[in-house]
Amino acid sequence: MTTLESILRALRGAGDQGVAGTQVSSALGISRTAIWSHIQELRQLGYDIEATSHRGYRLLRVPDSLLGEDLMSQLPQERLIGRSITIYRETASTNLLVDQRAMHGESEGWVVFAESQTRGRGRLGRSWVSPAGKGLWFSVLLRPPLRPPEMTQLTVISATALSRAIRQVTGLQPEIKWPNDILIQGKKVAGVLTEMSAETDRVSHAALGIGINVNLEASDFPSELQPVATSLQIEKGEPIHRSTLAVALLKALDEDYARICKGSFQEVAREWADQCITLGKRVRIHQLDHSYLGVAESIDPEGALMIRTEHGELERVTGGDVTLEKEP
Ligand code: BTN
Repeated sequence: MTTLESILRALRGAGDQGVAGTQVSSALGISRTAIWSHIQELRQLGYDIEATSHRGYRLLRVPDSLLGEDLMSQLPQERLIGRSITIYRETASTNLLVDQRAMHGESEGWVVFAESQTRGRGRLGRSWVSPAGKGLWFSVLLRPPLRPPEMTQLTVISATALSRAIRQVTGLQPEIKWPNDILIQGKKVAGVLTEMSAETDRVSHAALGIGINVNLEASDFPSELQPVATSLQIEKGEPIHRSTLAVALLKALDEDYARICKGSFQEVAREWADQCITLGKRVRIHQLDHSYLGVAESIDPEGALMIRTEHGELERVTGGDVTLEKEP
């Protein structure tokens, strides 16, 4: 744990009471002057920290920029996801960064955020709008104990964790569209792109890329997306604190990932099914070269969507796009 992270943990732990410089300095084994210079560094970053002789240091306000040490200071010490967090001001795509680092042996659980992406990637070769400071654009490096056909499980847990964190922090009611689009009032607010590197029967690593439109305004979306995309700020009518949401989501992901690692995917799948607007609906499945109609009946133990086609056959869908059809 870095000194900055320990200081932030101490400040947050102390809450309104404040914490004495001497207490932090003896707990961390560094001088009070060193603590003071870290406090100054945090103030430069926009943290409002009160320093008084009777109450010591008190954290009054946290800026809406992302700081790796601050995110880590709010996560449980025992964790896999978010063991180490890096923030980029700008990058092409955080999924690409995960892929590169994974090849160089980076440990599982590394998380990388970017304040903006110049070539954000969406599912099915689409691009993902990622303007600076307005969203959460990040990827997690995972080395899941799954075979390639089971990878849909990752998709399902990320949608469940996303929905839970958004509900907790904003009070909004997100819905899941298979496999992992998060919608509010029928418009997309977040999405997940899982890219894996696999051998025949084993996944060597995966980049779990998550994009959440947090504080975008309608004009931040290109005109063709405006009818179908939204942001948490638009839906809530007020800005949402990004790092609070990031922390809630990293915690939720860590919990749900632990569940699939110990073979309890079915628990998460039930939670997913409860919020999934696709189940029971007439849908159109878009594959590479064709599309067909059917009713979404269930998800199978590996997370695939089971579709009853118009001809009465049961089809197993693991990829492509699903759109909701109007009921006849
Ligand atoms: C979708 O099409 O719904 C998936 C969108 C995923 C976007 C995120 S933003 C962070 C990560 N980096 C990328 O380039 N894409 C994912």
